[in-house]
Amino acid sequence: MFSFFRKEKETNHKGYFPISADMHSHILPGIDDGSPNLDTSIKLIKELIDLGITKSIATPHIISDLYRNTPNTINNALELLQQELKSQEINFEISAAAEYMIDTYFLELIQKKEQLLTIKDNLILTEFSYASTPQEPGKISFEIITAGYKPILAHPERYPFYYGNYKMYNHLSDLGFLLQVNLLSLTGYYGKEALKAAHYMLENNLVAYLGTDLHHERHMSVLKDDRSIKEFHKYLSHRNWNDFF
Ligand SMILES: [Fe+2]
Repeated sequence: MFSFFRKEKETNHKGYFPISADMHSHILPGIDDGSPNLDTSIKLIKELIDLGITKSIATPHIISDLYRNTPNTINNALELLQQELKSQEINFEISAAAEYMIDTYFLELIQKKEQLLTIKDNLILTEFSYASTPQEPGKISFEIITAGYKPILAHPERYPFYYGNYKMYNHLSDLGFLLQVNLLSLTGYYGKEALKAAHYMLENNLVAYLGTDLHHERHMSVLKDDRSIKEFHKYLSHRNWNDFF
């Protein structure tokens, strides 16, 4: 079973990176816990380009009691960054959406029929709080879907309340959540449990998207490490992960 998965592909991993378009990152300057300023954003983008990434959809957090970003704050930061890329003649396609924490503020936005920032078409990126198991995920997905959106769930492998209960990933997928795994999870960066959960979702063909979830230089140094590239090649090279763009 899982023959592709167990196969060791030790050779030819050099230069391999599983995505050339990234749909999850925090590289807009100064509006969440990602890049603090323009210089850092530009530095991170140059490193993304070195990895073969040509396009990013930046997804700043929208969290009610922490980062109450709006389309305005996000588009202003995007514009600043685009202008800087242009003035430095850096060829990189960047747009913006958001990573919506599923909290009371988010549910209010849905109920008020506010227009949400989408990754593409009607796809929105959502995340659960790490602190507590979401009650009634079926009700949440139903509300999102009836509002006309399709939810992508960011990094399901990072939620401790699902460890040891992997069937929940199948369940979330059945409820309509498109599952997005963080590349860093496959390197062990977030610990063994996240790594095992990510492997489970890959083995069971539950992963719809991959993203960097890049916040800062520490993430970048792990993403570009040769050992990480080797792992990515081993587990991800059986499939084209960019087909969504
Ligand atoms: Fe994120």
